[in-house]
Amino acid sequence: MGELNHIAIIMDGNGRWAKNRNLPRTYGHAEGAKKVSDVLQWAKKYGIKYLTLYAFSTENWKRPDEEVSALMKLLKKFLTEKTIELIENDICLKIAGRVDELSCELQALIQDSIKKTADNKSGTLVIALNYGGRAELTDAVKKIAEKVQDKKLNIQSITEETLSQNLYNPEIPDPELLIRTGGELRISNFLLWEIAYTEFYITDTLWPDFDEATFRDAINSFGKRERRKGGLL
Ligand code: IPE
Ligand code: IPE
Ligand code: MG
Repeated sequence: MGELNHIAIIMDGNGRWAKNRNLPRTYGHAEGAKKVSDVLQWAKKYGIKYLTLYAFSTENWKRPDEEVSALMKLLKKFLTEKTIELIENDICLKIAGRVDELSCELQALIQDSIKKTADNKSGTLVIALNYGGRAELTDAVKKIAEKVQDKKLNIQSITEETLSQNLYNPEIPDPELLIRTGGELRISNFLLWEIAYTEFYITDTLWPDFDEATFRDAINSFGKRERRKGGLL
């Protein structure tokens, strides 16, 4: 099996999980948020060094105000309560997304958690928050254009590597495996650049029901793939 260092997850299906129980969608989000600690433990157990979790997309602002504020409240709760857990487990927190568009309170909590976990080395948790693949590429293009304008970069020397180096977290390797729960066969604007050769594993399991067996299945399925990457094996 090829190396598996980085798993990215589209944590989908919270709303349907709640609907199946005649509960408001926000209950599904609360239940889903509880899964994150479990996934961090499983990642550690299976030797996964990087975990990227899609928590809120640039399109999710289109949801009703109550749902958006419930999600923001859960994110605040997560950062307040879980930073200590990240420190205890030696996990470094990173955010991918347009952080400057979030509330000042949330931005302060994010900065605090990032600072407190910055030196942790055993694993990295990336939360994709107000994240869009197109937004990330647009932001990268702006950074590159500024460097050209400031004469720090020649247009001729722009390579694929230049683009990679101007993404939100350039030091993080591309994910080898992408898991999507909730069964939808689409990418929903997640990691467009980084998934060029990522293997996909889609499960109908709704995010609040995601368990270790499903996580292990995804890893086992990855182990059986032939990763040709355009070449021959
Ligand atoms: C994913 O669950 C969580 C977020 C998008 C924040 P959904 O809320 O999309 O759940 P479904 O897809 O409606 O079931
Ligand atoms: C993707 O799920 C975003 C997150 C999981 C945060 P969505 O539920 O927003 O995606 P669509 O609407 O099904 O494409
Ligand atoms: Mg959804």
